Amino acid sequence: MESLVSSLRVPLVVLLWLVCCVAVHVGGHGIGEQPLSKIAIHRALFALHVNASIKAETVLLGCKGEDSQWINVQVESPGPSKDDWVAVFSPAKFNSSTCPPDDEPREQAPYICSAPIKYKFVKDSSAEYTKTGKASLKFQLINQRSDFSFALFSGGLSNPKLLAVSNTIIAFANPKAPLYPRLSQGRSWNEMTVTWTSGYKATEAVPFVSWGLDGEPQSQSPAGTLTFSRNSMCAPPAKTVGWRDPGFIHTSFLKELWPNSLYTYKLGHRLINGSYIWSKSYYFKSSPYPGQDSLQRVVIFGDMGKAERDGSNEYSNYQPGSLNTTDQLIKDLENIDIVFHIGDISYANGYISQWDQFTSQVEPIASTVPYMIASGNHERDWPNTGSFYNKTDSGGECGVLASTMFYVPAENRAKLWYSTDYGMFRFCIADSEQDWREGSEQYRFIKRCLASVDRQKQPWLIFAAHRVLGYSSDYYYALEGSFAEPMGRESLQKLWQKYKVDIAFYGHVHNYERTCPVYENQCVNTERSHYSGTVEGTIHVVVGGAGCHLSKFSQETPKWSLYRDYDHGFVKLTAFNHSSLLFEYKKSRDGNVSDYFTITREYKDVLACVHDGCEPTTSAS
Ligand SMILES: [Fe+2]
Repeated sequence: MESLVSSLRVPLVVLLWLVCCVAVHVGGHGIGEQPLSKIAIHRALFALHVNASIKAETVLLGCKGEDSQWINVQVESPGPSKDDWVAVFSPAKFNSSTCPPDDEPREQAPYICSAPIKYKFVKDSSAEYTKTGKASLKFQLINQRSDFSFALFSGGLSNPKLLAVSNTIIAFANPKAPLYPRLSQGRSWNEMTVTWTSGYKATEAVPFVSWGLDGEPQSQSPAGTLTFSRNSMCAPPAKTVGWRDPGFIHTSFLKELWPNSLYTYKLGHRLINGSYIWSKSYYFKSSPYPGQDSLQRVVIFGDMGKAERDGSNEYSNYQPGSLNTTDQLIKDLENIDIVFHIGDISYANGYISQWDQFTSQVEPIASTVPYMIASGNHERDWPNTGSFYNKTDSGGECGVLASTMFYVPAENRAKLWYSTDYGMFRFCIADSEQDWREGSEQYRFIKRCLASVDRQKQPWLIFAAHRVLGYSSDYYYALEGSFAEPMGRESLQKLWQKYKVDIAFYGHVHNYERTCPVYENQCVNTERSHYSGTVEGTIHVVVGGAGCHLSKFSQETPKWSLYRDYDHGFVKLTAFNHSSLLFEYKKSRDGNVSDYFTITREYKDVLACVHDGCEPTTSAS
């Protein structure tokens, strides 16, 4: 215990700097803020008590190769209080020796400069704790490449006093193990990328994927290795209390895949001594050839975030949506071909440890079907860093985490817009955190993406972005009078109309809403559920209720708004063939369909002339 805390020393200047930096973050968010940001860890006082203790029952985790494990923790305190809480630190050592080098004189103790990776109030696990001073807490730990320690604090989150620290080293058997694979479509239809996280740097072990058609000889493809340092973060808390070593992120490009085929794969690292480290086995089904007719099922949602199965970090904050959505998708995984999580991914907001936890949460999904992301404000925004919005929502990550932890087939992953094809679908994914207006680089991309698709082969044209660039009657947008992100549709609606985009999806607003086929605020089709022939306009869908706290609608319902739902959910599109599409909105709590529509049409209906979307004709014969 002594070794962990004996060097708690603080420089006053650094402490003030932390107070300032963290205060910016704590103050700005309100509902839905990152729960770790509520901890004033910089203010922690050294108050070790001989009669207070915290002990973990298990010390070696993952003995059978597991990458997560439940652990019991016993707490004893001579002066129990309802404000007592337990923090999990990883790395286990969290004293001032772990702080970044600093030349300023140190004048005050104690000094803790890294946030825990999770926490719980003791009374929530044992109601009798405030009387008995004894409690037992359960935590779920995942392999995050480092050891763990538990600490008992009194004084609540805002004035923490460190009473006791666990004195055994708790660690996974192989902390460097290759973990949490996430698939993404590559740059072409017959390429799948696998991205994963490990503790092996490239000079220590060669990363690769062993893969092949199910039941056939496997081949090996090398992987690249990326990482980033504290210096890559734009601001606190990512640069300060939220910083945690991200390990190494590897991506392998599996090329020349056969269409619609089942592949198995394993992540590997060949060590310098010639031995191999392997992950468990995974599988995926390769993408169909663009235009190929087969059953194709797509899931789309935004703003899911992560949540804790052990109830840590205020269970109710992103619950029940995030875990419910995750669990519904896992349950239906055999009937899902590709997933789009259109921004506000983990809500780590600068607390880097949360990205491991997010990739662990979605691993069953992301390791089996392509998990395509879009960039949201919580991934990208920070003032004066090139984001279109000068907000602090990324907690200083400024896009680095999203674009490193996940692969997207973008030309430049710092600009997260891209196009991808899945059989009869073309997806044009925009980055709403960067300028999309006419004349911008992104506008040119969107136009090219929409214009370059052959609708006879790929009839289903989908646009998606994080912020609502189309239509939403969320109360906040209604207050602004724009019923969308200001400037959102000004530039883009003529593109959606000209290129006959079928459906445009958005997150950011945490609810569900579907419009009529709409153009310039007017419904251009009176049908509600079964569209046939030429649809005449684009249907706009807000599907930002996958996990985060819900957002209210305006009292008044605009004419273009056909269906609104204040609940957690996600969308599933099913293309049966070139002329039949089913849209379903499902509740996260039970997977039941709450809203749906169908589109039935032929190629000539897509070609047909619509208002502001007609191809030129000539009277010459
Ligand atoms: Fe957002």
